Amino acid sequence: MFDPKIGMVPPMGWNSWNTFSWNINEELIRTTADTMVESGLLEAGYEYLVIDDCWSLRKRGEHGELVPDPEKFPNGMKAVADYVHSKGLKFGMYSCCGTHTCAGYPGSFEHEFEDAEQFASWGVDFLKYDNCFKPGHIDDPTLYRRMSTALRNCGRDILFSACNWGTEDVWNWIRSSGAQMFRSTGDIQDSWKSMSDIALSQMDKQPFSGTYCHNDMDMLIVGMHGKSDNDFIAVGGCTDVEYKTHFSLWALMNSPLMIGCDIRSMTEETKQILTNRDVIAINQDVECRSPYKVQCFGWSEKLFVLAKPLANGDYAIGMFNFGDKRAEAAFGFWDIGIPAASGRGLEFYDCWEHQSLGVETERHAVEIDPHDCKIYRCKVVKVR
Ligand code: GAL
Repeated sequence: MFDPKIGMVPPMGWNSWNTFSWNINEELIRTTADTMVESGLLEAGYEYLVIDDCWSLRKRGEHGELVPDPEKFPNGMKAVADYVHSKGLKFGMYSCCGTHTCAGYPGSFEHEFEDAEQFASWGVDFLKYDNCFKPGHIDDPTLYRRMSTALRNCGRDILFSACNWGTEDVWNWIRSSGAQMFRSTGDIQDSWKSMSDIALSQMDKQPFSGTYCHNDMDMLIVGMHGKSDNDFIAVGGCTDVEYKTHFSLWALMNSPLMIGCDIRSMTEETKQILTNRDVIAINQDVECRSPYKVQCFGWSEKLFVLAKPLANGDYAIGMFNFGDKRAEAAFGFWDIGIPAASGRGLEFYDCWEHQSLGVETERHAVEIDPHDCKIYRCKVVKVR
């Protein structure tokens, strides 16, 4: 059954929570599926369409089964899954390891195996699994292993997206639970502060992420611009420059890329950010090597450089200005393994300008606007 492509590199898709939360229904899912195809998002790699919390009735049915809310999903979930599949997309759903989901709907605690089979019968390809309302005596490793085992034996390939918000030192045990991705932080909000705090909090966790088990820094806020039905998330929004930096960080830090805005009304700028193939290629690099902080003249939380080795020998380099003033960032090539004595330099390709900047030796310095960044793909070349 197992398809080795599933979960190998960071999953990409769309999730309903950031913008719609409880306001979900079949029409939203169908029109979003249409847009994922028509806008080129599917072609750019976004293949999973995921319905988050609030899709079921408040109580299980008489045989203990989960029941889709007939007002939101009048044709049931199989019909939704069939439609999503007919567009060439994959279909994701949501449950929780406790007795209830975070919004108070039935969770899968002690229903793991039957729920996994029910999801499989609907044609589900992805399950996000939350962390609310757990019985106090059971730890997360036990609960996530259970659902993982249920999914691995339900008769269908279902990607397991664990969401315990980084608690119980999740990075230490999640890979061996069988999950393909794991949320590592609390919920993101649509603000620069929330986004940048999450990124900084995960800098030292990068080595725990890799092929088949990716550090999920939460759904993207790119393009939300303060629009959400959920007041916790709608806290003002960001500028397009900040969304570009957010996307760059998630890509370089190997997070799954799950879109959270209403793509049916996204602006051209949002689309340009989300479909930047050069940046996506860095995220989807087959080796999934973690980036490291380049120790260039100190590393500060305001101005920093990340480097990620890519499978073909190139480097992905990100230079970030989290400060409030335009500032110069620089790094020496010796700090990423290229001493001047090697006779090698770097040929820079700017992944946001989509142009080559030529070859440089020894060091690269550039001025960066506040909250902006540079993302380069660099080729190691002989200079003498
Ligand atoms: C949170 C989770 C969010 C969303 C929400 C649904 O725990 O982190 O991403 O799924 O629950 O209630």
